[in-house]
Amino acid sequence: MTVSAAIRDRAESLRDQIRHHNYRYHALDDPEIPDAEYDRLMRELQVLEAEHPELVSPDSPTQRVGEVPISAFGTVQHELPMLSLGNAFSTEELQEFHRRVLDRLALDDQAELIYSAEPKLDGAAVSLLYEDGVLVRAATRGDGTTGEDITHNVRTIEAIPLKLLGSRYPARLEVRGEVFMPKAGFDAYNDKARAAGEKIFVNPRNAAAGSLRQLDPKLTAERPLDMYAYSVGIAEGGHLPSRHSEIIDQLQEWGIKVCPERRVVRGVQGCLDYYENIGKRRDRLSYEIDGVVYKVDSLDMQEELGFVSRAPRWAIAHKFPAQEELTEVEAVEFQVGRTGAVTPVARLKPVFVGGVTVSNATLHNIDELHRKDVRVGDTVIVRRAGDVIPEVASVIQDRRPKGTRRVQLPKTCPVCGSRVVREDGESVARCTGGLFCAAQRAEALKHFVSRRALDIEGLGAKLIEQLVATGRLKTPADIFQLTKEELSQLDRMGEKSAVNLIRSIEASKSTTLARFLFALGIREVGEATAAGVAAHYGKLANVVSATDEDLQGVTDVGPVVAARIKAFFEEQHNLDVIARLQEYGVEWAESDPEIVAENGPLRGKTFVITGVLPNLTRDDAKDLIQNAGGRVTGSVSSKTDYLVAGEKAGSKLIKAEKLKVSILDEDALRSLIAS
Ligand code: IVH
Repeated sequence: MTVSAAIRDRAESLRDQIRHHNYRYHALDDPEIPDAEYDRLMRELQVLEAEHPELVSPDSPTQRVGEVPISAFGTVQHELPMLSLGNAFSTEELQEFHRRVLDRLALDDQAELIYSAEPKLDGAAVSLLYEDGVLVRAATRGDGTTGEDITHNVRTIEAIPLKLLGSRYPARLEVRGEVFMPKAGFDAYNDKARAAGEKIFVNPRNAAAGSLRQLDPKLTAERPLDMYAYSVGIAEGGHLPSRHSEIIDQLQEWGIKVCPERRVVRGVQGCLDYYENIGKRRDRLSYEIDGVVYKVDSLDMQEELGFVSRAPRWAIAHKFPAQEELTEVEAVEFQVGRTGAVTPVARLKPVFVGGVTVSNATLHNIDELHRKDVRVGDTVIVRRAGDVIPEVASVIQDRRPKGTRRVQLPKTCPVCGSRVVREDGESVARCTGGLFCAAQRAEALKHFVSRRALDIEGLGAKLIEQLVATGRLKTPADIFQLTKEELSQLDRMGEKSAVNLIRSIEASKSTTLARFLFALGIREVGEATAAGVAAHYGKLANVVSATDEDLQGVTDVGPVVAARIKAFFEEQHNLDVIARLQEYGVEWAESDPEIVAENGPLRGKTFVITGVLPNLTRDDAKDLIQNAGGRVTGSVSSKTDYLVAGEKAGSKLIKAEKLKVSILDEDALRSLIAS
């Protein structure tokens, strides 16, 4: 059966539209239509091609990912060698380069040479060969003369057109550029790989190069790769402009993606201004760069200048200071942050990296430390990117000395000796010392006195830091022992302000249970949660003795918050501080616990809620049950009467089924309440 002309035309029109929108989206970064509409066009074409396989052409936008993996990479001889670039590491080296260019061109000092300035992208160089506008071959740079055939993988990169736009391109056109993995894609990819226990990439350059060297294009297709073209190799059967910058603009018109940061600049000063400007914005670019490249813009001049040992005389890479260096780990210590987070830190043999001398580097958290398996004595790669804190990127395993040991998370806080705990699924370990721990003191105190907590006017951040530094304030209880005499001795504190401060400290003693609970600074216990807990229990003693399950019966309190509250009151140090506060006169009115609907239809019944309910949020469902006299707890046990299960219910549903707990959906819950 032959396909009707109408269907053939429709398929061709869809392809043209899709190519046009690819261009708008990728090359111009300026899409005209919403993603959903693009997807619709793509689906329509896929359906047409599935119904009429004879319509499929290799350059159709549907044909990016090949079905079968290749068994080995073919080799590609580059007709024109793929060159490398000379480097300049300082202004002087750049000036010397410029001087050499002027000399060779027999131009005088005053000549304002035009350069094309571009970021030096940190990825993998590729060569893309287009014949009659169709991508026929893609290759790696290899050694510059021979590369590997990676056509099957490059076809999966959506930023690279399978067919050029327009018609005036050379019959044979070789586009050269850099394939890279944008920072966001790199981070997301690594997060996913880490969660799945798979290998992660050390940096975006390795990620790009590694992704291009997959035998199975389906794997490459999953990698978030992108490309910017930076030059042309072969160009036969057609015409190209006579300036580098114009060639790049021309490539963009043919649908090839080029770097939006490219500029035409004048003389060395123009180059230096560009370098400084990009350097400042480097961290904010969505991709990694390791410097900038200046190219003499005129192709005639380029030809006159020629090459020296595989690098052009008309271009140079002006590098940023290295962001990675090798050094040795002298110790691994644990620091306690202001929120109690216990963070491993590597003490390093000092090394100059990213423009500064680094002797400490963060290891982020214990999981990261174990994943990288950093040990005392190891040689490591230290990275300092921009203003970011230096980190240990990886360990050079080959250089590990004998007899090293894995570093373990300390069981107790190195600052205050309280237990260090890590909740399930949390990567951060924390000191439970809370108010007692010196490391957490200043921050905890600032919170304690803040307006919505105990509201002590006049006790500002500076003053607290000063009092913590001198050891005068260790816990919030100490605030209530401050005297007018000692306060007036402090910097910038007169007699009058000391009197005022003492007065506001006195006034703060009379508070409410909700404010007091909030002031304690228990993690995840914000104002609303504190108010909910206070209303539910009425008395502090009830909160202190509440079980985990019980706490989860409070509106807004889930398993995480319940565990935090429980851990806080299990720490004797915290109870001691509270006792002292009460001793010094901090007080509030206590009430009876909130009376739950004693006669409601659900009285005496215990519920667990799981999954996504069609109309109720989990808190709504909880309120509904509690108002009808029921109890809501967090986990299914033999004491659970009902499991209210919505969509995506998981382990709780399985457990409930095993324990033969009655299972209700939202409607059944409503009927039960109405009965
Ligand atoms: S031009 C003849 N421009 O740097 C000049 N290269 O050290 C050839 N690179 O293999 C390259 N960004 O992978 C040029 N804007 C840019 C570049 C760039 C990154 C890479 C490229 C090349 C290496 C040369």
